[in-house]
Parts: sequence; structure tokens; C-alpha cells
Amino acid sequence: TRKIIIDTDPGVDDAMAIFFAFQAKELEVLGLTTVFGNVPVSLATDNALRLTEIAGVDVPVAEGVSVPSVIEPRPHPDFVHGTDGFGNIDWPAPKGKAVTLSAAEFIVEQVRKYPGEVTIVALAPLGNLAKALELDPEIANLVDEVVLMGGTAHEFGNVSPVAEANVINDPHAADKVFTASWQVTMIGLDVTHQVVIGNTILERIKEKQPEQGGFLYDCAQHYIKFYSDRFPIDGCYFHDASTIAYLLDPSLFTLERGPIRVACEGIALGQTIFAPEGLSYPEPHWEGIPSTQVCMEVDDERLLKLYEETMTA
Ligand code: BDR
Ligand code: CA
Repeated sequence: TRKIIIDTDPGVDDAMAIFFAFQAKELEVLGLTTVFGNVPVSLATDNALRLTEIAGVDVPVAEGVSVPSVIEPRPHPDFVHGTDGFGNIDWPAPKGKAVTLSAAEFIVEQVRKYPGEVTIVALAPLGNLAKALELDPEIANLVDEVVLMGGTAHEFGNVSPVAEANVINDPHAADKVFTASWQVTMIGLDVTHQVVIGNTILERIKEKQPEQGGFLYDCAQHYIKFYSDRFPIDGCYFHDASTIAYLLDPSLFTLERGPIRVACEGIALGQTIFAPEGLSYPEPHWEGIPSTQVCMEVDDERLLKLYEETMTA
């Protein structure tokens, strides 16, 4: 099994991803770390605890940063995920509590405990990862891989024409993550806009898996309405859960490689600027930046089949 930490701002598609990871026997979830994003961080923590309780798993939750590293916070997108982060379904308060370590401390602790073995799956703004790197820069060489949902290489953005939500919410943190010496794999809008999950699949999952599936179905309705009102799709984009699909079967995706930098001010704020490998730019911003793996194409039918099979196994 592969050890993962999921950094998250639950979030409807975060919930889809987290249950997917809990269900996958190839993955061992060491913990959930929370961050502001879709909702304020204290609610992200409560929501992460709720998800562990619905799934009946004993996985620690560590609370992380509440604001961006440098820029002013943007408003939370309640029109996408609801004010509760779960599509306004009025779910009861969790029974459990977060651990006393902060998210960044938890990440450092686990990476030090299992050197070379931990993959960080990031589904939210990247402040906790940036903070963990600040606390202990050596972890960049001790993490197996960082697989993140965020950014876009060629696809239009979802917050501005060039920026994706997780990156624009904390662009300085994202730039730190993309330029550190660990292996980053970016699952951005290039691929997540190719995968749409709708009620047909969610209903089948709910039937076989009433607890997790029933919860996902209920919380997805507000999210599906948001997406299907704005885009020509019958369902919602399968953003965060695509990272888990990548871990389970990387052959679902095609990859390109090259350094990424994040625009940290001005009209392009939050843009992930991708320089395909092989092109060389004698310009200081691009010197010595490690290559990111960028997912470009995805077999959406096989991916959704994998999701359904895993969720109903
Ligand atoms: C990302 O932003 C959030 O709204 C989703 O949870 C996902 O992580 C998509 O751009
Ligand atoms: Ca998210």
C-alpha cells in the first residue's frame, strides 16, 4: 500500500476524493490536513472529521492555515459548495476533534517517520505544504511525490481566464510548492474539465454504499446545479478525486513535463505558467526550476469506472 496524507478544504469534490481514498485498499491514509479554501479552516476541519465518521475510519485530522501566505483572502465560494461546504445539507456536528499538531507539523512528523514513503495529495490552496517546507526544508527530499489538484497548463481558468481556484487562493504558496525539489504531479483543469460525474453514477453508488454514497449524492446536488447551470455538462467536474484515480492507475493519464511558476501579482494572478521540457529560457525566473509532471489527457470512461468499482467494492 501507498501511504498518503490528504490536504483538503472539504468541499463536495474533496469528499468524493477522500471517500475514494478510504475505499481504495492500495492506499493507506495517514491523515487529513485542512486549510481554508472552499470554507473557513475551522469548518474544513469539522467537515474532514465528519467524513471520517461517515466512513467509519480512524484517521487523524490536523488543522492548518486560515489565510493566504501573502495576499488578502478571497471570499469563500458558497455559491459552489454551499455555506457548509457540503451543498447546504445541514449535517450534524462531528464527535471527534483535530489533533494538537498543526497541519504543517503533522506533515513534517509523518514524512520524517516514513522517509521516502509518503505521498502528499493536495486538494486545496497550498499554504500547509509551503509551511511544512519552511518548518523543515529537508522534507522536499524525503517525500515520495506531491500529487495536487490545481492549476492549468492550457485550459482556461475557473476563477479568472488564466487561474484555477486552489492556486489563486494562495499563489505564493503554490509557487513554493512548484519550485521545491520534490516530484510534483499536477492534475489541473486540463484533465479535470474532461471528467464529468453525474447523478446516474452517484445513484448507483448510493444504492450499493448507502452511508458514503448517500452522503455524496445529497451533498453533490447543489454542486451539480452550479456546474450544469454554467457549463454544457450534465453533472459536475470531477476535480479533486482525479488525484486519487491517478494514484491508483496512472495509465489513465498522459503526461508532459516541465517547470511551472505561478504569477503572484497583477492581471495574471494565480496563473500556472508551464514551460514544456526541452525549451530553454535564459531568464532568471526559470533557472534551476525542477520539472513538474503535468497531466494533459485522461480516459474519462475508464476513470469513472474505476471510481464506481472502488466505491461499491
Ligand atoms: C478546486 O477548487 C475547489 O473548489 C475544489 O474543491 C477543487 O479543489 C477546483 O478548482
Ligand atoms: Ca478542494
